Amino acid sequence: MTEVKNKYTRSNDLYERALKTIPLASQTFSKSALNLVKGASPLFLESGSGCYVVDVDGNKYIDYVLGLLPVVLGYCDPDVDLSIQNQLKKGISFSLSTELELELSEKLVRLIPCAEQVRFGKNGSDATSAAIRLARAYTGKDKVALCGYHGWHDWYIGTTTRAVGVPKAVCDLSISFPYNDADALESILKANTDEIAAVILEPVSIEEPQSNFLHDVRSLTEKYGVVLIFDEIITGFRIDLGGAQKYYGVTPDLATFGKSLGNGMPISAIVGKQKIMHCMEDIFFSGTFGGEALSLAAAIATLKKIENTNAVERITSVGKRLKEISKDIISKYSLEKFCIVKGTDWWPRLQVNGNDEISNIVASSLLRQELLEQGLLMTGGYNLCLEHDNDEIITDTAQSFDKAMAAFAHNISLKSPENQLRGDPIQAIFQVRPDKK
Ligand SMILES: Cc1ncc(COP(=O)(O)O)c(C=O)c1O
Repeated sequence: MTEVKNKYTRSNDLYERALKTIPLASQTFSKSALNLVKGASPLFLESGSGCYVVDVDGNKYIDYVLGLLPVVLGYCDPDVDLSIQNQLKKGISFSLSTELELELSEKLVRLIPCAEQVRFGKNGSDATSAAIRLARAYTGKDKVALCGYHGWHDWYIGTTTRAVGVPKAVCDLSISFPYNDADALESILKANTDEIAAVILEPVSIEEPQSNFLHDVRSLTEKYGVVLIFDEIITGFRIDLGGAQKYYGVTPDLATFGKSLGNGMPISAIVGKQKIMHCMEDIFFSGTFGGEALSLAAAIATLKKIENTNAVERITSVGKRLKEISKDIISKYSLEKFCIVKGTDWWPRLQVNGNDEISNIVASSLLRQELLEQGLLMTGGYNLCLEHDNDEIITDTAQSFDKAMAAFAHNISLKSPENQLRGDPIQAIFQVRPDKK
């Protein structure tokens, strides 16, 4: 390790203090020090504006993490914030329902093909878990076939390497299948005839659906009498205002939304066909904050603004430009072996690959360190918001990315690249979306 800089003094001090009262010093694995080169990275942020954030040491970054994607318009969006302020004057949590619930449900029903009825939660995990319970209640079956990431609850996390604390009996009810492999899904459905309640998947993530994959999944779930759930927590209001189901023309039975819905306010939604959603009246999906008014007001304002500003198209075209820029810079430094631009235009990803001489972890750590050094807060690629749609920001990003790649190329050309780390390497938590080369 070379000498640790002083640029992150307050972050490091807060981290040491936080460890005494907060396990991992963070509420979210992906926002914790595990995901950064601790000692050479900011660990605490203080404020955000547009697509910029400032850390507790006063360092400013163009943010390509965006709180893990809820910030779709930008930090402190004036229209969304005004709506929150107006609602704040009336109250936050009430003793009965409010009209805001109807207004937002009606909007979602208008936008999303499968949405005939809607219920709200706070986290994406609330919505995915409610969808699973609903499917089990509707079909009278227990097992679930799944693909992608779906949150922290037992039925999903029990299928990952982070299954500690989940009863084996629960793990045994969930079966994973690979994306773009309808045959694998059919084998599961055949081998568990009359036992599978639901198939849940992210309709698209890093990989695009190949040939007829989503249509095949739809046909298989119909053939085997299984509820099809699209987890649109990431795709929602980013790929299309009507979700991936609208974009690809495949309508599931239920779908879950969260993240971008409230531009950072905690709100999620489960939507779907009336005949299944009706079972909400029988199951128990009920919480103190389901109708919390600030988030509902924020969501109504967010959707209105996404619609009125053509945010989906504009974010997609920024992503396309950044993908091309990044590819050119990677090839300028002959780094294709180490760094691949992947993903869709609306969600460009950067895949880092190690080799025999440099591990994935060291390569990823070095890259993250150099991106931060150049003022880019970026982990897995470009999470985008409307405020990135600005030529100056794209030019700044290109220049910073170029300098970061130059430093990365230099570091990995040295005999012991790990010695170029100015802090602790990142630590793998678990791989949600395994890389396919
Ligand atoms: C596709 C998908 N589903 C579900 C979730 C869980 O959402 P939350 O973290 O808000 O509970 C996430 C979170 O990253 C997600 O990406």
